[in-house]
Amino acid sequence: MTTLASESNGKQPGRPLVQNALALSHEYARLLVRPGDTVIDATCGNGGDTEFLADLVGPDGHVIGFDIQSEAIARTTDRLQKAGLLARCELHVASHDRMAERVPPGVRVVLFNLGYLPRGNHAIGTRSETTLPALDQALALLSVGGAVLICLYYGGDSGFEEYQAVLDHIRTLPVRQFAVQKIEMANATNCAPIFICCEKLQD
Ligand SMILES: C[S@@+](CC[C@H](N)C(=O)[O-])C[C@H]1O[C@@H](n2cnc3c(N)ncnc32)[C@H](O)[C@@H]1O
Repeated sequence: MTTLASESNGKQPGRPLVQNALALSHEYARLLVRPGDTVIDATCGNGGDTEFLADLVGPDGHVIGFDIQSEAIARTTDRLQKAGLLARCELHVASHDRMAERVPPGVRVVLFNLGYLPRGNHAIGTRSETTLPALDQALALLSVGGAVLICLYYGGDSGFEEYQAVLDHIRTLPVRQFAVQKIEMANATNCAPIFICCEKLQD
């Protein structure tokens, strides 16, 4: 679990305001998601983000989750069941580049926590061939005011190809339609993941 600055009453000494890209994605989701919203977890993994989103949308909201690994969907299902949140979630063992076939437009947030499954096979990570089409589908599904939130890893087992492809792609999004932010740790000594928010300004 990440520590969120907004959960504490002010900043803790010796700790950054927001710890990392994942915590930033959660902070942005908190700003955006309202009770009753429909949101997508494009990479369920161990279900931490799915559980977080399911809590945010409340009992009348809806979370649609995707992962290509049945092991990940099983872990996510188990986690949601234990948290009493499974009824508001719909999980698919499917690649996120099929989301447009399964989800109607009108989505508030799509979260991509890219990379490989922690405690899983590091060789089955996200790849630009499917990430970029999924990203475009997610942007098309957003309602105005919604956003695609991305935690983007690079170096190590993630390599650099997907990182570069995503950065190149988001730079091409039309400025009238999307406000695109990229936040990175400018003085990190390792390959700290970066956070990207693509907010839809108009259809
Ligand atoms: C960093 S993990 C996600 C972490 C997760 N959100 C959590 O809270 O534990 C990335 C996940 O993306 C999944 N993945 C890889 N390629 C995918 C694809 N094309 N469509 C959907 N999920 C994919 C992997 O199987 C892995 O479980």
